[in-house]
Amino acid sequence: MDGVSFHVRWGECFGLVGESGCGKTTVARLLLRIYDLTEGEIRFEGQNVQSLKRGELKKIYQRIQIIFQDPRTSLDPRLKVAQIIGEPLDIHGKGSGQERRERVMELLSLTGLSATHVNRYPHEFSGGQQQRIAIARALAIDPAFVICDEPVSALDVSIQGQILNLLMDLQEKFKLSYLFITHDLAVARHICNRIG
Ligand SMILES: Nc1ncnc2c1ncn2[C@@H]1O[C@H](COP(=O)(O)OP(=O)(O)O)[C@@H](O)[C@H]1O
Ligand SMILES: [Mg+2]
Repeated sequence: MDGVSFHVRWGECFGLVGESGCGKTTVARLLLRIYDLTEGEIRFEGQNVQSLKRGELKKIYQRIQIIFQDPRTSLDPRLKVAQIIGEPLDIHGKGSGQERRERVMELLSLTGLSATHVNRYPHEFSGGQQQRIAIARALAIDPAFVICDEPVSALDVSIQGQILNLLMDLQEKFKLSYLFITHDLAVARHICNRIG
């Protein structure tokens, strides 16, 4: 990646649009520090994330979550829905066992899933439902900033609209900021405040 520069404002949906293979996912991975930058800088809430120590970084990365393109590959097939959605709570040590179970139920309801889904495995769901599970997981620890990497591109056209509406409802409800990656201009026009 070269010459990439943009900022995302509080509460907005910033669209990152470009053809397939141009490097959009690479940018998302850089933001999450899956890859290291060779040059330049990434700031979150004014802090340069490269200069932060481990503990401070962990705090920041509680506030940043990602939703991937294809839930068939982003959800662990060996885990039940309750474990998938609750895992970020475990990792970040949030709440007691009982509180985590309640939070998982709340997240299922927020994303339009049913409490009866909690003990099932990802393969038992449709693509749209799987993406709802991924969204529930991303919201588990109350992020401020969510990177949506082509969250509807792998879904049937008939359910893309439902998932986009869900993302927009959740954004409004929880005052989320989105980096919305897409190669689909119609989707970008529908959901984004600004586009780069
Ligand atoms: N880890 C990697 N090492 C080397 N090349 C990569 C790696 N990841 C992606 N690429 C290449 O970088 C380019 C941009 O990929 P990507 O960021 O996935 O694009 P997009 O998400 O816009 O479709 C592609 O040509 C891809 O093959
Ligand atoms: Mg990509």
